[in-house]
Amino acid sequence: MFNTNTISRFQELETPFYYYHLDVLRQTLEACKAASSKYGFHVHYAMKANFNPKVLDMIRSYGFGADCVSGNEVKAAIEHGFGKENVVFAGVGKSDKEINLALDEDIFCFNAESVQELFIINDLAKAKNKTAKIAIRINPNVDAHTHHFITTGLDENKFGINTWQLTEVAEALRNCPNLQFLGIHFHIGSQITDMEVYKNLCTRINEIQDWFEDRGFTIKVLNTGGGLGIDYHHPDANSISDFESYFKVFKNFLNVKPGQEVHFELGRALVGQSASLISRVLYVKNGQKKNFLILDAGMTELIRPMLYQAYHLIENISQSEVNEQSTQDLRLKTQDLMKYDVVGPICESTDCFQKDVDLPESFRGDLIAIRTAGAYGEVMASSYNLRDKVKSVYSEE
Ligand SMILES: Cc1ncc(COP(=O)(O)O)c(C=O)c1O
Repeated sequence: MFNTNTISRFQELETPFYYYHLDVLRQTLEACKAASSKYGFHVHYAMKANFNPKVLDMIRSYGFGADCVSGNEVKAAIEHGFGKENVVFAGVGKSDKEINLALDEDIFCFNAESVQELFIINDLAKAKNKTAKIAIRINPNVDAHTHHFITTGLDENKFGINTWQLTEVAEALRNCPNLQFLGIHFHIGSQITDMEVYKNLCTRINEIQDWFEDRGFTIKVLNTGGGLGIDYHHPDANSISDFESYFKVFKNFLNVKPGQEVHFELGRALVGQSASLISRVLYVKNGQKKNFLILDAGMTELIRPMLYQAYHLIENISQSEVNEQSTQDLRLKTQDLMKYDVVGPICESTDCFQKDVDLPESFRGDLIAIRTAGAYGEVMASSYNLRDKVKSVYSEE
């Protein structure tokens, strides 16, 4: 992934920074577009995954819509040229201010997450003499078989409306004249790689849409959410998610009726492989039982390992014998590798990217790449310890 020229360029730059592989982003977007267009599916990019302006501009240029979870995301999506008619707005805690902003912008659809929210949106729409378009986010109780920190579709999760509340929802919809019911929305979790999970989701969606139709509601929109996973272990060999198989599951198992639209909200799968966090080794600390590589990047730049116990491939790109290939492919023999706990400089014991990482012997000043950092990376950066804002560098500059 990193050729000699790129590494020479990095040598000149102050670390840490996010390095955007724009070619990977482009190829990913092309693959997703081709696979979804085949079936006429609509994809909204889940902006929460990464709202770097260059990334947003490129995604918009492929004609994707935007999936937002805050008023500021709705604003940013529209400012970046995503058409309002392609903006959806989810979130369990939309404030009145955020709802009003989305009403003023006439967005495509609110994904409402509670019965109380339906009444609030209705009241705020009425005050503006408007009608708000609504999909109901339903919690289908489908196990995403992913890490429990990023599972959202079980009865115990805070997201969405549980199926036992649907009668109440139907009643609310009948009593809210300033709501236009468009359809149903789901999002069961993230980093899902087992297509069987999506098959189960389709079965539940089919049952739930029948429930609504049996009660006289017309469903125009089936929004299945996002969650498609990526390969954190082999970012070079497997840089693009299997969009073909993913969309095919919905084509084969979702009961799409004439006139219905199928919508998706992909985040991670579109941007995850498009960035690496590049840092330098500040210190090498050899203990009796442990060796530590202390980097100039920490949880303030990439918090996923600390927050979700997430794995990221870590490479010493200064010591790589074959820089174009990832660590697994290097011609290094096992005995040449050392074990390091790779940690950041932040004053928290949890500020550790990974323990016992096999790396070539590493030295102060070596460049370390933490791969697959394009999703939920830069967006979660913080200024804790009064750290500088992390910079972004692009492959095409
Ligand atoms: C409602 C909703 N849609 C879509 C997504 C995007 O998920 P992913 O990045 O896993 O595709 C999320 C992520 O949390 C979400 O909450």
